[in-house]
Amino acid sequence: MKAIVLVGGFGTRLRPVTYAVPKQLIPIAGKPLLYHVLDLLPPETEEVVLATGYKADLLDAYVRAHPVRWPVRTVPEAEPLGTGGGMRNASAGISDPFFLLNSDVVASADLTAMRAAHLARTGIGTMALYEVADTKPFGVAALAAGDRITAFVEKPDAKDAPSHWINAGLAIWSRSVIDEVPGGRAVSFESEIVPGLLARGVYGFRLTGYWDDAGTPERLLRCQRLLFDDHRGGAGGVPKGAFGSGPVAAMTGARAAGASFGRYVTLGFDSVIEPGAHVEDSVLMDGVRVDRDASVLGSILGPRVRVRPGREVRGQTLGEGAEV
Ligand code: GDD
Ligand code: MG
Repeated sequence: MKAIVLVGGFGTRLRPVTYAVPKQLIPIAGKPLLYHVLDLLPPETEEVVLATGYKADLLDAYVRAHPVRWPVRTVPEAEPLGTGGGMRNASAGISDPFFLLNSDVVASADLTAMRAAHLARTGIGTMALYEVADTKPFGVAALAAGDRITAFVEKPDAKDAPSHWINAGLAIWSRSVIDEVPGGRAVSFESEIVPGLLARGVYGFRLTGYWDDAGTPERLLRCQRLLFDDHRGGAGGVPKGAFGSGPVAAMTGARAAGASFGRYVTLGFDSVIEPGAHVEDSVLMDGVRVDRDASVLGSILGPRVRVRPGREVRGQTLGEGAEV
């Protein structure tokens, strides 16, 4: 099977970091969010097609420079086409059925088992679902016997949510669904298309374990914690010459001798944490510099942010080049 991964969207809730870097390239637990999504695909996946839009060139350059085990191709859209339009735009040569994945979710999902469940039925789609208390930011499914989806509502008010089982952003669809997406305009697959597909047999695949969407700063940092706790953030520990608990995932060129670390930190390429500085529960992107005796807690620092000596950055999201 092949996979279409939806990689457009502006990442508005992660501004100002996403003015410089698309959400999918923000590193968490040692590598970009996108790469953690790709890790979920079955090993025998034939090809990955990235439906890109915002900052398509950066994404294309990154995946060329950092190849994964499958062939990866990017198909950019000139105007944002929404989730349905993006899927349609990227669908030339796609397999039947195919995976359709959001690029901003972190999960303990067995997509090989989901494929087996899909192929064992006669439906046109299988959507991974996850049970949450607050369904408001998500698409919500009603389930009947055999986990057949009988209703699907995108981002309903709490009183209109048909259950607590939400669309986890990982699905398998028959090629024929692409024909249902009108061309030439932006289309939300979840709002405009999915409800009309249910009569043809769409099933839920209930996820257990962990899941979250990394679309906001709080959720992105939670996703990083989930990945580290699942040992998907590398060897753990702290960088050479540093102190503290970790886990810290340090990308190439990161230096932190004499600094101290709490739990859950990613250090981007060529970042420098000076002696006496302290970092925990944070993402520091490429070229960030944290001067001596400064501290960074619960924050996301965009490329080349500088934190001056003795300063404390707590609960902040700082854009490229900011100085505090
Ligand atoms: N190509 C393309 N074009 N991709 C897009 C576009 C676009 O115009 N807009 C969004 N995307 C991509 C995003 O990068 C993301 O990977 C995915 O499509 C979903 O978009 P989000 O903006 O993150 O949507 P959401 O989080 O509000 O809701 C979606 O995900 C939830 C689970 O995280 C929906 O699929 C919900 O039903 C679902 O519950
Ligand atoms: Mg999202």
